[in-house]
Amino acid sequence: MDTTPAHANLTIVRHPLVQHKISLLRSRDTPTKIFKELVDELAMLLAYEATSALPLEPVPVHTPLEATTGYRVSGKKLTLVPILRAGLGMVEGILRLVPSARVGHIGLYRDHDTLKPVDYYFKVPGDAAERDFLVLDPMLATGGSAASAVASLKRAGATRIRFLCLVAAPEGVRHLGEEHPDVHVIAAAVDRELNAHGYILPGLGDAGDRLFGTR
Ligand code: PRP
Ligand code: URA
Repeated sequence: MDTTPAHANLTIVRHPLVQHKISLLRSRDTPTKIFKELVDELAMLLAYEATSALPLEPVPVHTPLEATTGYRVSGKKLTLVPILRAGLGMVEGILRLVPSARVGHIGLYRDHDTLKPVDYYFKVPGDAAERDFLVLDPMLATGGSAASAVASLKRAGATRIRFLCLVAAPEGVRHLGEEHPDVHVIAAAVDRELNAHGYILPGLGDAGDRLFGTR
């Protein structure tokens, strides 16, 4: 892991497998089936890093040979919150790592002309104040969707929120950091810039369309 000095709220996961897979994901020649598998695997690898500081509590364990002390993750179940649609592609991979996690959903789309997020759905567990949240979205572009999702979670009572994405733009990291300095971003890559239509360059295109084969 590497916390980038330019962005105090950002960690880039530079593991070789992450960098290898993100490059495959970017290629325009990668078909939908493989794209989906890569998003799933990358989400799992990022979640491994994002969960490295979860609190543990000791538990008694009886091996076939003797009694010992093991550890389990303490506190309320981790809660994953994919931003619809593309965030959905990141859920299953993380659930394989943390099968007991709960899953909330936030429905947002970016208006094509204004690039502002429009929200249409919100459902998370009721006891939000006691939970650790991982918000999931492959793309952090202008940061409008991420900032809006985090604001909705905070209104519901959440206080411990991290944001997992595959590709971020510097503009998005800055925007989220300005509105929500307490929310740490964990990303596989931070790209150069946004184009005039709010797409990340070099990026990977439209994550939702590539995941679900639309367009
Ligand atoms: C994409 C992406 C993010 C958002 C990022 O979703 O999955 O949610 O854009 O852009 P921003 O940082 O500028 O807000 P999109 O709005 O295309 O919706 P979709 O997943 O339903 O296709
Ligand atoms: N949303 C995407 O899916 N891709 C981008 O490059 C920007 C926003």
